[in-house]
Amino acid sequence: MKIVVAITGASGVQLGKKFVEYLPSEIEVHVVVSKNALTVDSFENKKVTLHDSDNIAASISSGSFGVDATAIIPCSMNTLAKVACGISDNLPSRIAAVALKEQKKLLLAPRELPFSAIALENMQKLATLGVIIAPPVMGYYADASSLEEMEKFIIGKWYDVLGIKNNLYERWS
Ligand SMILES: Cc1cc2nc3c(=O)[nH]c(=O)nc-3n(C[C@H](O)[C@H](O)[C@H](O)COP(=O)(O)O)c2cc1C
Repeated sequence: MKIVVAITGASGVQLGKKFVEYLPSEIEVHVVVSKNALTVDSFENKKVTLHDSDNIAASISSGSFGVDATAIIPCSMNTLAKVACGISDNLPSRIAAVALKEQKKLLLAPRELPFSAIALENMQKLATLGVIIAPPVMGYYADASSLEEMEKFIIGKWYDVLGIKNNLYERWS
């Protein structure tokens, strides 16, 4: 499986970073960090390829590269709006446009509180196009007792919808 992860300038950059770190090692991972995201440390997973957010000519910018799934975690309202309008003026917005045109799995984790009506309209529009709108929302049934467990629950749910097997959280039984 080939996955592209974009990290944009919303609160929760560490969630995007951990999403990449917990991925199974057999997955080919490409990462792009928007200029407005906080600086992320180097990734421990050796299979990660980091792309410059301004490099529109990157491999992942083309549908022919053959990505299976794309995730933007966290997704700023700025990037959300660009994706909803079809603007692709940097690599994070371009990879989302590619996923849409190629009809591949696209997961957005919008992070804002509260959401404006504009953001909700953008999410609604994208959801009707099949985009997975999955904000970082805690499920208390997972009985998490630390921030790390809460984050693992959310990341595990993201993996579930993308079809990535995981045991990151306690499932309801
Ligand atoms: C400390 C800080 C926290 C921010 N948190 C959020 C956030 O949670 N959600 C959001 O949509 N924008 C947030 N922003 C604003 C975005 O960073 C800003 O809209 C930026 O243009 C997003 O650019 P990008 O989409 O290219 O990453 C934050 C900005 C700062 C400085």
